[in-house]
Amino acid sequence: MIETTLSVQSDSPIGTISPRLYGHFAEHLGRCCYDGLWVGKSNSEIPHYDGFRADVVDALKKLPVPMLRWPGGCYADHYHWRDGIGPQEKRSIRLGMSCGLQVEDENSLGTHEFINLCQMLGAEPYLAGNVGSGSVQELCDWVEYCNSTVQTTLARERAANGSPQPFSVRLWGVGNENWGCGGNYDAETYAKEYRRYATMLRHVDPSAELVACGQEDEWNIQFLETNRRHLDLMDHLSIHRYWIQGGPEIEFSETQYYTLLHEAHATEDFVRRTADFIHQHLGSQRHRIGVALDEWGVWHPEARTWGPDNENHRTPITYEQAGTLRDALAAAIALEGFHRQCHVLTMANLAQIVNVLHAPVMTDGAAMWVTPTYHALQLHTPHIGATALPVEIVHSATLPGQTSAVTATASMQADKLAVTLINRHFDQPASVQLTTPTVTDLENAVLLTAEQSNAVNSSNHPNHVSPAKMAVHADGTGCWRVELPPHAIATIQFR
Ligand code: AHR
Repeated sequence: MIETTLSVQSDSPIGTISPRLYGHFAEHLGRCCYDGLWVGKSNSEIPHYDGFRADVVDALKKLPVPMLRWPGGCYADHYHWRDGIGPQEKRSIRLGMSCGLQVEDENSLGTHEFINLCQMLGAEPYLAGNVGSGSVQELCDWVEYCNSTVQTTLARERAANGSPQPFSVRLWGVGNENWGCGGNYDAETYAKEYRRYATMLRHVDPSAELVACGQEDEWNIQFLETNRRHLDLMDHLSIHRYWIQGGPEIEFSETQYYTLLHEAHATEDFVRRTADFIHQHLGSQRHRIGVALDEWGVWHPEARTWGPDNENHRTPITYEQAGTLRDALAAAIALEGFHRQCHVLTMANLAQIVNVLHAPVMTDGAAMWVTPTYHALQLHTPHIGATALPVEIVHSATLPGQTSAVTATASMQADKLAVTLINRHFDQPASVQLTTPTVTDLENAVLLTAEQSNAVNSSNHPNHVSPAKMAVHADGTGCWRVELPPHAIATIQFR
């Protein structure tokens, strides 16, 4: 049994945990958008709301989904928004391309449908623009079509297509991974291209928040350096982080278990480093540029043709993978880091929302189930919009990778304190003493765990891994004791 003492610090709040840190990502890739979200208005026997699967929408509403990025990913740099507006029967059938897949893309899920989905989910839309095969004018037109309040031809066209009210989309990505699939730019060339796009986009909608494409440290520094006199043209710098070192999706070893959790843990450092570079370049300027981790999650070797351990990848690649409890723990570890960096991290989008990669929701024909990661995210709901508080690890055991075996994140909202604990240990339970300031009553406590860290849900066993109530014992004033099984996540709420 691991003995741990944790202490929530209320006198040094970190910042607000923006709902944008709980964003999601829907790409036209594999069965994410088509099939997973969109089944169409006319041809489907699956119950739907305006073409979107009712079971999936209902599950996502409960998650919740405060922000949704669309339509890619690599798909974005091939996407021409005009293909996806107007009467369904007149929409172009295009070659749908992302990550090496080529499909018939009928464009039935376009801008209006996506905005409708966001409205159903209560999600803020985040549109990724096409730099790779598009033009400045094309992206300017999309912004005008979506947001203009002036009765231009494009705004009238939007009204004729059913939306007299502007969509008021604030977040616009200027390309995606333009160092790779989005055009194989070098940092300096993209930086100059970005400058041109951003200048023109700001003329169309001065209130648009623009997201520039970043990569690893070297690219980010060069990009910022090239645009050092124009930093006011960007609001967020996008970085992506996929965890790929953890071995097989299900049959992983103890070492691989810890490797994945450690990769997830290290995401925070990447965010912090990127924020530091931004800070160094901004100097004393008042303008703020946030870090946008607009794709994150685990990418197992079975679902990719590149990277380590992929000899046994599925053929063809569908970008679908099993989502175990280990993946849920990795997500929770990343969220801990997001909370600690919430003063510099301005958005984060789990990749992807349904069926593809680190998906919280899976479908198979008429069946729908949620993964352990769905439950892990839901356990974090009380933190959304709350003030993040530091948690001191007074005493705990250390794991391979030198992280504490038990860690926690805490936040305060109105008169409520929420603490999410993670026991990262592969097979040891933990006894946790938790001290909480200004707390009087325990409200509830929920635990997510399973016999094995490689446990999954499936269409046959949709509730195999699901949350359950757990006991918390008072242990003196503002002091509590909790027993955590190995590989477990728990959220405790106090009033
Ligand atoms: O999420 C899958 C792909 O991963 C995206 O299309 C791309 O942005 C990233 O490389």
